[in-house]
Amino acid sequence: MLTVIGGLESKNLAKKIATTLDCKYVDSMTTVFPDGESKITISEAPRGTAIVVQTTYPHADASLIRVLSLISKTKKTASRVIAVIPYLCYMRQDMEFLPGEIVTSRMVAKLLSAAGASKIITVDIHSKLAINYFDVPITNTSAVPKLADYLKKSHAKRPLVMAPDLFWSKRAKEFAEIIGAEHTALNKQRDRKTGKLKILQKKSLDLSGRDVILIDDMISTGNSMILAAQYAKSCNCGRIFAVCTHPLLVGNAEENLRDAGVKEIISSNTILHKTNRIDVSDIITQAISLIC
Ligand code: R5P
Repeated sequence: MLTVIGGLESKNLAKKIATTLDCKYVDSMTTVFPDGESKITISEAPRGTAIVVQTTYPHADASLIRVLSLISKTKKTASRVIAVIPYLCYMRQDMEFLPGEIVTSRMVAKLLSAAGASKIITVDIHSKLAINYFDVPITNTSAVPKLADYLKKSHAKRPLVMAPDLFWSKRAKEFAEIIGAEHTALNKQRDRKTGKLKILQKKSLDLSGRDVILIDDMISTGNSMILAAQYAKSCNCGRIFAVCTHPLLVGNAEENLRDAGVKEIISSNTILHKTNRIDVSDIITQAISLIC
């Protein structure tokens, strides 16, 4: 027996997953007190396998508590709990980059299993290293093939797929192979103290008459993509598309990206946003089917 429970930020996705799996959908109600605490209630106690669907944005900390609460509550009556967390926050803090920093990825991993998750499904987790911190099995799916399929239809001219940093060069390669294009990755450096970014790119490319597809796991402030867009512009490129799995798009990120010359922002619905073009519910359903 399968039951899907939709958390505040992922109800649409949860309903789609329940419909595809042809199983029961149980709603959750969230009240936020003036001091910021969340009070969560579920409309029915699930039996058998419970699938909790809750992304962790906006408000990373609050939605993390919400997903932990849902897991802990459903674990009381269900025999196992699969936590579907399409965007899993804190995965960038996977190392002690500067002395005294906390490896929060590891702590989040421990919290999820302590709450009662027996399995975690996510999409394009930021850190492969962080996967090792989980003591329950984790399935990391990817929106990249679907994002690439979408871009295939954009009629980009002799596109160059560009990752703003070396971390995503493998994904950029995968993306480029799907659309039959070339790819490159920039050497982005972040000052660990100030957070300031720079791109160490000495060579200028000739991109005249070519469109550029920037691709990353997430766009937060947009600064990484803005730097990459500026570099691409300096190489005389045509249109610039900014593609990501997780559209955090904090503050004026969208506007700033457009000011930097980005023609279109394309994202998946791991986080609800008007730039969503790709639905990840089928990717997640497939991953659930493999374990249920
Ligand atoms: C960093 O390593 C990530 O992959 C993204 O590049 C980064 O988090 C994006 O952040 P922002 O949009 O603030 O530059």
